[in-house]
Amino acid sequence: MEIRAPLSIDRLISELNALAKISAADPPVVTRVVFSEADLRARAYVKGLCREAGLDVHEDAIGNTFARWQGAEPNLAPIGTGSHIDAIPNAGLYDGSVGVLGGLEAIRVLQQLGFKPRRSIELVIFTAEEPTRFGIGCLGSRMMAGVLSPSQANALRDKEGRNLEDLRREAGFNGALDSVQLSAGRFHQFVEMHIEQGPILEQEGIDIGLVTHIAAPASMRILIEGEGGHAGGRLMPGRKDALAAGAELILALESAATSTGAIDSVGTVGVCEVFPGAVNSIPSRVRLETDIRDIDAARRDRVIENLRSACEQVATRRGVSIQTEMINADPPATCDPSILHAMEQAAQGAGKSSKRMVSRAYHDSLFMARITPVAMLFIPCRGGVSHRPDEYASPVWIGSGVHVLARTLAALAS
Ligand code: GLV
Ligand code: MN
Ligand code: MN
Repeated sequence: MEIRAPLSIDRLISELNALAKISAADPPVVTRVVFSEADLRARAYVKGLCREAGLDVHEDAIGNTFARWQGAEPNLAPIGTGSHIDAIPNAGLYDGSVGVLGGLEAIRVLQQLGFKPRRSIELVIFTAEEPTRFGIGCLGSRMMAGVLSPSQANALRDKEGRNLEDLRREAGFNGALDSVQLSAGRFHQFVEMHIEQGPILEQEGIDIGLVTHIAAPASMRILIEGEGGHAGGRLMPGRKDALAAGAELILALESAATSTGAIDSVGTVGVCEVFPGAVNSIPSRVRLETDIRDIDAARRDRVIENLRSACEQVATRRGVSIQTEMINADPPATCDPSILHAMEQAAQGAGKSSKRMVSRAYHDSLFMARITPVAMLFIPCRGGVSHRPDEYASPVWIGSGVHVLARTLAALAS
């Protein structure tokens, strides 16, 4: 599909800004946790835009949303595109949203050009790509792929102890959870546009990243039980300070990830909850949530093993109890060569530079890859910054992404 006139991106930018304002925090901070009031309002806003574009909107029992532009041969499996609109606490406005509203814009551009898809094109808004509420990422796509069973999903609770079942029903999603899983043929192909969340495209002045692999994420929860007491009265010898033990584990993870010698090994402790959390009280209980990734799953697993043995050593030496719980340890995904080729051709046709690269962040495409051929299209983001309020992608970068996505969808749906 030739898109000759330069794309006007003003409508999309104003929609991205409007979506960003639907947040539990004041601008420029975006915080939109799944099934929160902000999440539900954001969903309503995006569904409204989809309906205005003439798309048929459906939701599944976990809130994954499908907005379909009917093709000339509606019985053929559709081409999917999309991403997520939930946002971690203290996030920016591009992570996920660019793939959802940008996907919608690509569809609208094709509609305006009079393109008639043979296969339907379906925009997907995945529920809870971010692990904030239930501790596990890609909840919606994980369930679509059948990687998280309805009973495992039912067992998930948030920090307040509220279970997923109640929360999804309160949010208005009432169907049976076992209907969320999709068959392998449900989508013909899937393409997700996303900001890079790393610095390479901007540094090299390249418009489009063609993602060949998505790194393997893992998350382990660590519960440390020590002994509390008065911070003044209790002397240092013989203390069983759970936070001091946790501090050793944080450094042990840093060292395990660094010592692989591979730039792709990363380890982070992003959550540290301290009980009772009073300045004059020795921490008796600590919960750490770790995030460990690599493009090489075996190397990642060795980092996890090193962390586990650090847990044993610290527990023995400090006389505290340490329990670990593996939340997820997912394999990496490989993107589909024929979609990559179509994206490369689309970039060329649009006069945009592109390069093949790896995604070190995870995305819903990691799970869509289990049931359909996928590929991802990255656009640059300033300084590689993401998961922060100063995350930024310029209108020119976004415009290039939408242009290449529109051409790709047109090619795949023809
Ligand atoms: C997704 O948000 C990730 O943490 O990679
Ligand atoms: Mn994210
Ligand atoms: Mn994302």
